[in-house]
Amino acid sequence: MTDLFNINDGFTLALATLRRGGLVAVPTETVYGLAADATSERAVARIFEAKGRPAFNPLIAHVSNIAMAHRFAEFNDMARLLADRFWPGPLTLVLPLKPRAGIAPAVTAGHQTIALRHPLGVMASLAEELGSPLAAPSANSSGQLSPTLAAHVASDLAGKIDLILDNGPCEVGLESSIVKIEDDQCTLLREGGLARSTIESVAGPLQRAGSGSAIQAPGMMLAHYAPRLPVRLNAPAPGKNEAFLAFGPQDENFNAVTRNLSLTGNLNEAARNLFAMLNDLDNSGAQAIAVQFIPTDGIGAAINDRLRRAAHAANRHEAVDG
Ligand code: TXA
Ligand code: MG
Repeated sequence: MTDLFNINDGFTLALATLRRGGLVAVPTETVYGLAADATSERAVARIFEAKGRPAFNPLIAHVSNIAMAHRFAEFNDMARLLADRFWPGPLTLVLPLKPRAGIAPAVTAGHQTIALRHPLGVMASLAEELGSPLAAPSANSSGQLSPTLAAHVASDLAGKIDLILDNGPCEVGLESSIVKIEDDQCTLLREGGLARSTIESVAGPLQRAGSGSAIQAPGMMLAHYAPRLPVRLNAPAPGKNEAFLAFGPQDENFNAVTRNLSLTGNLNEAARNLFAMLNDLDNSGAQAIAVQFIPTDGIGAAINDRLRRAAHAANRHEAVDG
C-alpha cells in the first residue's frame, strides 16, 4: 500500500517511514525524489529494486546543510564557494568521498566520489530530522520521465513504495545541474536547473563531460527521459497523427493535440512544464510527438538536453537512468 499526503500532514509519517528503512517520494524544487536513509544499505537497496535501476548507477545524497555535507565529502575552496553560493538549490556537487563516513556503498556504486545536494524544502527538513542524508534518485521507474507532480509518482510507483508526499508541481521542473570538482577542474556532468552561465559566473569556465568518458556520469551515457512515443525535434508544425509540443506565441492553429510550454516564450516556465506536458502528449492517443524549436540559452540548454535524450529512439529500450 502506498499512502499519499500533503507535506504537512505526512511529515511525521514520512520521518517514521525513513527511520525504519522505508521509501518515501519527496518533492524538491527540481523534481520528485525517491528517498531512503543513505546510511542504510538495506533501505538504499530498496530504491534500486523499486526503480529497476542498475546497481552501477550511483545516487545523489541530499543533505540538510553544508555541515552535514562536510561529514561525507572533501570540500576544496571551489566546492565551498559553489555550495555557499548556490545551496539550497538545483546544483549537485560530485566530490571526493570521505571513506568510512557511513554512506551505504550502493549510494556511490563503489566510486570514490559522492554526489551531494542541499535541496530546498521538505527533503532537507527530513534529512535534518533524520540526522542523515537521504539518497534519492528521481521518483520514476528507470528510463521513464522524471515526475514533477505527485500524480506522476503514483501512476508509476504505487504499490512499490511506502509513501508519497504531495507539494503540487515542482518549481524548477528539471533535475539539478551536476558539477564534478577535481582539484582546480570543474566539469559539468549534467545540464540542469541551474544555468551553465550562472555556475560559470562563480566557477569560471566549466569543462564539458566527454561523451565517451566512461563512468564520469554513469547515468548519462545512454538515452533516457524517454516517453513511449517517438519524439521529433525542431518541428515547425505537427505532421499527421502527431501531437505538438509548442513553444512561444503561435500564429497558426493545427489540427493536433497541442500543449504550449510557454505562450510568452519564457524558458523557466517551459522547464516547469516540460515533463508534465510530454507525459500528457505521450498519453494523448497520438502516434508521435513533434516538438517546436526551443532556444538553448539559460535553462534552454537543459531543456534541449532532455529532449535530445527523449528523441534518441534507437536506444529507447536500453535506457538506464531515471
Ligand atoms: O534534481 C535532481 O538531481 C533529482 C532530485 C530528486 O534531487 N535527482 C536526480 O537523481 O535526478 P537521478 O538519480 O535521477 O540522477 C542522478 C545522476 C545520475 O545520472 C547519476 O549517474 C549521477 O547523478 N551521479 C550520482 N553519483 C555520481 C557520482 N559519484 N559521480 C558521477 N555521477 C554521479
Ligand atoms: Mg532520474
